[in-house]
Amino acid sequence: MDTFECITTKLDVREFSNQNVPGDIKSKILEAARMTGTGLNTQHWRFIIVEDRDNMKRLAQDSTSGGWAAGANFAVIVLTSPEHKFHMIDAGRVAQDMQLAAWNFGVASGLFTGIRENEIRRDFNIPDSLKATIVVCFGYPARELLGKKNRQPLEALVHREKFSR
Ligand SMILES: Cc1cc2nc3c(=O)[nH]c(=O)nc-3n(C[C@H](O)[C@H](O)[C@H](O)COP(=O)(O)O)c2cc1C
Repeated sequence: MDTFECITTKLDVREFSNQNVPGDIKSKILEAARMTGTGLNTQHWRFIIVEDRDNMKRLAQDSTSGGWAAGANFAVIVLTSPEHKFHMIDAGRVAQDMQLAAWNFGVASGLFTGIRENEIRRDFNIPDSLKATIVVCFGYPARELLGKKNRQPLEALVHREKFSR
């Protein structure tokens, strides 16, 4: 799949099949994370890969907007350091890179940002210096993806040369 097709066909998925994602694909997803750039190349982030079923349930409970995560095959908790003012940008970029790398192999994903901070810290042993910024959940989709992206037309989004009111 070429990059443009990967971007334009990827949907955020919240229902997954029971099929396991092979280890080599998981490794590629993590490698895509490692290869993503950070501001000033600080690489302040750390990643917790969650595969155990009970831990996946805990992860879903530690969320305010990711109750569906319990049904995913595995998840990556993206930890970033709030010490860097761009840490949220870094988190967004690495989440997207992991999602695109996964989709290239037919693995779907969804993410959540509604995180119960104290609970996730306790359950996943997250140090005070890092914040769980995004959780990306992966698996094969429960059904064929027939959905279409709901997006505004380019004319509504793009301004030429200067912002036109
Ligand atoms: C910054 C950000 C935060 C998001 N947070 C959540 C979330 O907490 N829970 C959730 O289910 N989806 C979350 N999403 C997924 C969005 O709802 C999804 O990307 C959007 O609806 C477009 O989906 P589509 O690409 O499948 O059309 C988030 C996406 C982004 C970019």
